[in-house]
Amino acid sequence: MAKSANPVARSVNAVDEWVNERAGVKDFYKKHLSEYWAPKNFNIWYFFGSLSMLVLVNQLLTGIFLTMHYKPDAELAFASVEYIMRDVEWGWLIRYMHSTGASLFFVVVYLHMFRALLYGSYKKPRELVWILGVAIFLVLMAISFMGYVLPWGQMSFWGAQVIISLFGAVPVIGPDLIEWIRGDFLVADATLTRFFALHVVALPMVLLLLVVLHLAALHEVGSNNPDGVDIKAKKDANGKPLDGVAFHPYYTIKDIFGAGVFLLIAAFIVFFWPEGGGYFLKPDNFVEADPLVTPEHIPPVWYFTAFYAILQAVPNKLAGVILMGGAVLILFLVPWLDRSPVRSIRYRGWPSKIALTLFVITFIRLSMLGVSADANIMEIRFWSILYFAFFLLMPVWTSLESTKPVPERVTT
Ligand code: HEM
Repeated sequence: MAKSANPVARSVNAVDEWVNERAGVKDFYKKHLSEYWAPKNFNIWYFFGSLSMLVLVNQLLTGIFLTMHYKPDAELAFASVEYIMRDVEWGWLIRYMHSTGASLFFVVVYLHMFRALLYGSYKKPRELVWILGVAIFLVLMAISFMGYVLPWGQMSFWGAQVIISLFGAVPVIGPDLIEWIRGDFLVADATLTRFFALHVVALPMVLLLLVVLHLAALHEVGSNNPDGVDIKAKKDANGKPLDGVAFHPYYTIKDIFGAGVFLLIAAFIVFFWPEGGGYFLKPDNFVEADPLVTPEHIPPVWYFTAFYAILQAVPNKLAGVILMGGAVLILFLVPWLDRSPVRSIRYRGWPSKIALTLFVITFIRLSMLGVSADANIMEIRFWSILYFAFFLLMPVWTSLESTKPVPERVTT
């Protein structure tokens, strides 16, 4: 490179080279941005990965500011949240960005997962990307459950009571396990402080690590696309896929646009509908925790209710817990349950299309039943069976259905 006459530019270049020789920043930038060849046919579904990252950053930043004013003490926690809402400058905004942000996180992640089902993004060679995604989903569930306990309102307390008591269904060690998790004979200060430690330090670190691994795994094999075509199969003389474009600047610009639209919608919700009509923050949670007064109905937040409905499908507690756990864990197996020779729904047969549509309806209906105080148990059973049938029968219809030929190049 020709030496610049400008001494400032020369110093900057020298520092740049010094860092690069030691940390390989330029190689990293090339591998993951300027020479990461992403398929040129990404559509709206491909916004949700970068949006998940955006919401993650929002949760981390707003969480840090909440922690500056929150008191992890059963005597003080509730009042400290009220103090944040009323007295801390902009505290109400920070709190709502975090609490509403949690719901938005699940909206975005559910859509992101749906995209993977739509285009078979979990199929070879992206099984590990999917497995890490499901692990992220599990950690996300744990983080949000523990976060919900922190304001120490009635729903925090009784929600924790209900969920922790599920561990009592484990044979032999159940009762000891509950006591170990709570750190006391009932949900109390010890429970709150350990949930605080896990929610603000331990689990976010695990989550961040998993997200880095998720992206590293994806960048190793490359992104899928709405056609499910393998773009690496057709390359030019320089080894660049013919249907690929550089992630930076093409998709960085596109993702910034997506982020802008998302932020507009998110700001509208945070400013005008922060409690989501009682679905994001329940009215009961604005009443301080009282171990002597059990609320009439203790449903979890909306993003858990489908799994909560499945828990209620059988009268036996242990069987219910196994079914509920199974409903999440079965996701790990999807790459092997799907036997289809094609990835994208575009080239699959009608059984796959009907099955995926039915699955979406099932998930929404179960979510509605899980939040209702007087849901019909037979209806819960019906939809729970459909939920599991989607996964367990997947090998059957995906191997039997006739598929359309996949084009050699992506369609735009
Ligand atoms: C904190 C949560 C998550 C973050 C920040 C995240 C981030 C991302 C990003 C940035 C991408 C690349 C862009 C895109 O394809 O949209 C991606 C791809 C992907 N993610 Fe996630 N993700 C998260 C959770 C999940 C979950 C829960 C799953 C599934 C259970 C999942 C499965 C996938 C798959 C299969 C791909 C590859 C998609 C393709 O190439 O078509 N992710 N993720």
